[in-house]
Parts: sequence; structure tokens; C-alpha cells
Amino acid sequence: MCGIIGIVGGTPVTGRLIESLRRLEYRGYDSAGVAAADGEAITIRRAPGKLRNLEAVLRENPADGVAGIGHTRWATHGAPIERNAHPHRAGRVVVVHNGIIENFAELKTALQAEGRTFHSDTDTEVVAHLFDHELALAPPLDAFKTTLDQLRGAYALAVMIDGEPDLILGARRGPPLVVGYGQGEMFLGSDAVAVGPFTNRVAYLEDGDYVAVTRTDIRIFDETGATADRPVRVVPASAALVEKGEYRHFMEKEIHEQPDACQHTLSAYLDPVALTAHAPGGFDFQGVERLQIVACGTAYYAGLTAKYLFERLAGLAVDVEVASEFRYREPALSRFTLALAVSQSGETADTLAALKWCKAQGLATAALVNAHESSMAREADHMWPTNAGTEIGVASTKAFTAQVCALTALAITAAARRGRIDSGEEARLVGVLLEAPRLITEAMAVEPEARALAHDLARARDVLYLGRGQAFPLALEGALKLKEISYIHAEGYAAGELKHGPIALVDEETPVIVIAPSDALFEKTVSNMQEVAARGGPIVLITDAEGARHAAGSMRTLLAPACDPLVAPLVFAPAIQLLAYHVGVHKGLDVDQPRNLAKSVTVE
Ligand code: F6R
Repeated sequence: MCGIIGIVGGTPVTGRLIESLRRLEYRGYDSAGVAAADGEAITIRRAPGKLRNLEAVLRENPADGVAGIGHTRWATHGAPIERNAHPHRAGRVVVVHNGIIENFAELKTALQAEGRTFHSDTDTEVVAHLFDHELALAPPLDAFKTTLDQLRGAYALAVMIDGEPDLILGARRGPPLVVGYGQGEMFLGSDAVAVGPFTNRVAYLEDGDYVAVTRTDIRIFDETGATADRPVRVVPASAALVEKGEYRHFMEKEIHEQPDACQHTLSAYLDPVALTAHAPGGFDFQGVERLQIVACGTAYYAGLTAKYLFERLAGLAVDVEVASEFRYREPALSRFTLALAVSQSGETADTLAALKWCKAQGLATAALVNAHESSMAREADHMWPTNAGTEIGVASTKAFTAQVCALTALAITAAARRGRIDSGEEARLVGVLLEAPRLITEAMAVEPEARALAHDLARARDVLYLGRGQAFPLALEGALKLKEISYIHAEGYAAGELKHGPIALVDEETPVIVIAPSDALFEKTVSNMQEVAARGGPIVLITDAEGARHAAGSMRTLLAPACDPLVAPLVFAPAIQLLAYHVGVHKGLDVDQPRNLAKSVTVE
């Protein structure tokens, strides 16, 4: 979602604000803006659309200064047009914001009654007016605190004041905000990537914190107004400065990074010498009666995959639910339930709220996250990492397989600790899982065929994905990837459900992609495939060499390496990702930043 950068320095900042905003593009946005303070005055420049539009505005009408804030906006309240782009000004105050101010309407009414005029349709503008109002009554820091106390909802804020060129104020409730420590200049940003070009020394604000950033100093306060000490961490360059390297797109790069992402993740869960699995930090699966997984989107599909694994291997009942439904459903959970939030970013608002809800019910909580300093990581009793590295492509790829790796290792751990498997079987399963990175590398060999197939698929209006067992969540994930990247309507179904309705959609124009490893369910899936073929539906069969023997003449196949069923979701994932990627590329679409999508969904 919206990206924020702030710099308080001694040299011109606008070029660097743009550089940082470019790195934040991956979060998804539809307008952008900067504000720069030179001496007394703050100048604002904004433009709808991509950053190049803002750069064109700046070429026409330069604005620079020694301190500034920048913003990429993902529209919530108000269309993505210039007057709704951030920064917003009211009186002496200039604000950028990520999140939603829920009580903006009542605040706006009160401020309008005071005679204040609003110039945008945004919720953010009320923050500028409110702070400007408070600033007339108190010094900046006190006025800022009073302003924050009146806001309800979610926000990461960066604020400047006319006549205070050596000060940026920031605050966080919900969406993350980091501060960066430089030499003679200081920074504020949505994440370590935002400040990455300037410093690798960052501190993560806690929920409710606010901060005063000057050229030489950063003072952090907690929500009570007390001075807070947040540890300064050195962020690895790989996390802060992510480049495309030899690849055309981040998505392509990240698909190919999956063997490493999986290997690094598995190293946190598996002992390759003893051939054992464990939960990082230790966890007693014996005391757990039920596992409640909450997640959104692709992470939810990783959770669905885990249901098959945990129930089959460990005999542990698993419920998986999309967090946006779970959090408002008042679910009935036994106190021996482990609540597990699965999230790449660790910031998804619904997943975080679901996790907090479970914690408030007194349940044990864990967070499987790729961002190890994220809100979920800090909220949960146990932080279980994926080590996929920063994921920039809006469509999740390597984070998904890393999640499935970690969940598979945890399922083996639970199976062993609950006495469902002996040490010999644990060693066998761990051995199989350790092979996954090599098999994923081999699975990339499907790319030329996926590219060729993508040319035909790009013409489709609708596509169906079918799978059974563990291939069912993959069918859902395949359909989601295609929708996101190519804007082609796609649906994933359990292959056995076909006859219960979706088969009515099958005709010569609707490609059906069947994901079928040659496992115990293969023949049943093939029967469903025949039902499609009998109705003239063009079929793409994603299978292994053994399964390919069942492909009929007109059918296209994408081959995955033969593998143990334990790792099939991992080994079959590249084929569906590459297919979606190449359809998007063939259609000339922006695969790294698909329209309307945001990377980290920090509002409900
Ligand atoms: C799809 C995708 C999204 C995310 C979802 C959850 O490609 O990336 O569906 O999986 O928004 O995000 P996290 O994992 O950050 O909670």
C-alpha cells in the first residue's frame, strides 16, 4: 500500500525522495507526490499515475529543499487524481499518510464548522487540518500528540511544518514505519527498503509510537508520551537494496530465487545431519488439539496446503480461514488451539487483527512471517520465519513456496512430537524435504514450454484450474496468479467438484489447467480431465513423466520432475507461476505492479 519516505538532511532532497519512491513502487500505487522545505516555505508537487508523471511535473516546476517527504498513494478515500494525491496541506502543516482514518467524517464536520475548507476527498486531509488547529494552541510535539489522540483507525504518518525545516514528525498505529540513522541526516520510511539507498541502520517503531526526526537526532515516544528506546538494527544490504539483476522483472527473478528461498527457510527448521525437524525456538505440539490458521490470498493457500500435511502426517486437526472473515466471525475455539498467522509481510491488517483477537482469547499464537521485524512477528508468542528475502513483485511467488516449506517442516515436527511417526520416518521425510530446493531448480526447466503455451492462453477470457488433494490449493493459487498478472478471469476448483456446477463453463474457448502429480489421486483427477475433454475443453496437464503417459493427443503438457507427494506442492508451483508470468508478459502488462493491487495490505 502507500509508501512513505522522509529525509531531514543538509543537501537537496528531492532527487533522493524520488529514488526512494521508485523503490517503494512495488507496494502498488496510483499517484505520487513530494514536499520539500527550503528555509521557511514548503513546496508540494503531485501527480496522478506513475512516478514518471511526478518527475515531469518536477522538471516543469522544480521544488527542492534540505528536508522533504514523499509518498506513493494507493487510493482508499477519493479517486487517484492530483487533488487527492499526497502530500496534503492545511495552514502550516503538510502530511503524508498510509492507512485509513476511520473517524475522518466526524472530524471533518467539526473542522468545517470552524470554517476550514477542504480541497480533497481524502481522509488524510483531516489530519493536516487537525494538527494545524492544535499547532495554534501548543508546541509541535504536544500538538502532534493531541492530534494523534483524536484519530481512530490505522496510520503511518510523516508530517512537516512551515518554518521548521529541521523537523519531520512521524507516527504509527497499524501500518509500519521505520526511522533510519545517517551521517548528519536522518530518515523516516515505510520500511527498510524505503531508507535502504541512504542507510542500513534502522529502528522499527512500535504500534502507537510517534517520533521527532531532525538532522542530528531521532526521538521516539510511546503512545503514553514517554520516551521510548527502540533498538537500532543493521539491515542486510540484500534486504534494503533489491535489484532486478539480469532479470526483466522482479517476479521472474523471484520465481527463479525459489530454490534459495526454500533452502534458507528449511535451514531454520531441519537438521540435515541428524535428519530431524523442529520448530524454531521450540514448540510443544503435544499440547495442541487444533491448529487455526489465518491468512489472506496466497498465504491462505499456503495454509490450505498445510491442512493436508498436518492432518495426514500429524493427526492434528487444522482449520484454515481467510483472516477478513475470521476476525469478525467470533469463532468458537478451544483453549488448546494454536493460532497460526501466515503472512509474507507480517503487516496484513486482517491477519494481524485475527492474530490479536486469538491472543486476546488466551490462545497460544505463532506467526509464520517473511518480515521478521513485522507487527505479527512481534505480536505472536512464537515467530517462525520464512527466509525468502525481500519480495518485491506484487504477486507472491517465492514467499509462497517458502511458506509451504516451513509448514511442511512444522507438520513433520508435529508428527514426530505427537508420536505419529518414528524417528526412521522422520528422517525419511526430512530427507525428502531437503531435496525440494534441487527439485524446484529442475522444475524451472518447464519455462520454454510455459512461455510457448502462454501465447495461446493469453487469448482466453476464462480459465479453469483443477486439482485434487494437495494440488487443490495449488489450483486456487494458479488461478489467483493468472488473474493478478494477466487480468484473465480464472477459477480454481477441486477436480471432484467439477460435476457439481463448474463443468457448465467448459467449452472450446475455456482452457482447463489440470494439476495432477502421479500420486494416489492421479487416476481420479484423470477421470475429471476426461469429462472436460469429452466436452471439447482444451486441456493443459501439469504432471510428471509418469502422468504424462496419460495425456491424449491434443492435450498440452507441462512437465514437473517426479517427486515424493510430500514435496509435490513445491515442485509443481513453478509451472503455474511461470505460466501466469509469461501470459502477463505476452500481453505486455506490468507484471511487477498489476493494476489496483498493493503489496502489503495494511488496511481492512
Ligand atoms: C497474491 C498475493 C496476496 C498476498 C496477500 C497476503 O499474489 O501476494 O494475495 O498473499 O495479500 O499478504 P501477506 O502474505 O503479506 O499477509
